[in-house]
Amino acid sequence: MAVRKKYIAGNWKMNKLTDEAVSLAKEIVEGAQKVTNCKIMIAPPYTALSEVKKIVKGTNVLLGAQNMSNEKSGAHTGEISIDMLKDVGVSAVIIGHSERRIIYGEKDDFINSKILLAIKEKMDVIFCVGETLKEREAGKAFEIVTNQVVNGLKGVTEKDLSFVTIAYEPVWAIGTGKTATDKDADDVHKVIRETLEKLYSKELAQKMIIQYGGSVKPENAGALLSMENIDGALVGGASLKAEQFLAIINSIK
Ligand code: 13P
Repeated sequence: MAVRKKYIAGNWKMNKLTDEAVSLAKEIVEGAQKVTNCKIMIAPPYTALSEVKKIVKGTNVLLGAQNMSNEKSGAHTGEISIDMLKDVGVSAVIIGHSERRIIYGEKDDFINSKILLAIKEKMDVIFCVGETLKEREAGKAFEIVTNQVVNGLKGVTEKDLSFVTIAYEPVWAIGTGKTATDKDADDVHKVIRETLEKLYSKELAQKMIIQYGGSVKPENAGALLSMENIDGALVGGASLKAEQFLAIINSIK
């Protein structure tokens, strides 16, 4: 079985002014200095990216963005292009977060177009999928997540998949304090891996990093991260406090 390196990412969402972001990044960089057993990324808001870049440069903490436009440039008022992200030192971008899907109406094909653009431009992607509570209660979690994976990865070749990490974030577990049980989360991760095996190959499915997201905290991280198919975490609330984010990183066995 492939040994997959863990990947912990912090999605700061719409939080932190520049000074606060710089302070938080400094604490994380300092606390994570000696970490070698996992990949670490932080995704501050756009406005703090260039200052945070100065802090993470040359360290083991990567700089991520929370979203990007599906267009290269031009008349797209209010959007941020991939070149703009690269310009400020971003090397990974979160695409298809449920808050983008639900609040801003992003659909699978739109998300797919962003993923294809990111890959073309050699930018790493964290591609988010996850079912709502209603969908889970209707017994549709596996089906919904499978469809999101299939549709989001349309046109992505086996070679290109090296740019992609998948994050399973059940919508009902985000910011609610409710976490999927270790077993429930692992079951969905397994379904995602089986989907990748069907779409690509067993070898590739075994290599793929699949993060879990949704109320990950220091208290539950160890158990979640020790599950067979859970290869990391996409952390929201707990990534806003260095102590908690570092404790999640340090919970990796
Ligand atoms: P919380 O960790 O706050 O539940 O957020 C998860 C998330 O949406 C990360 O992208």
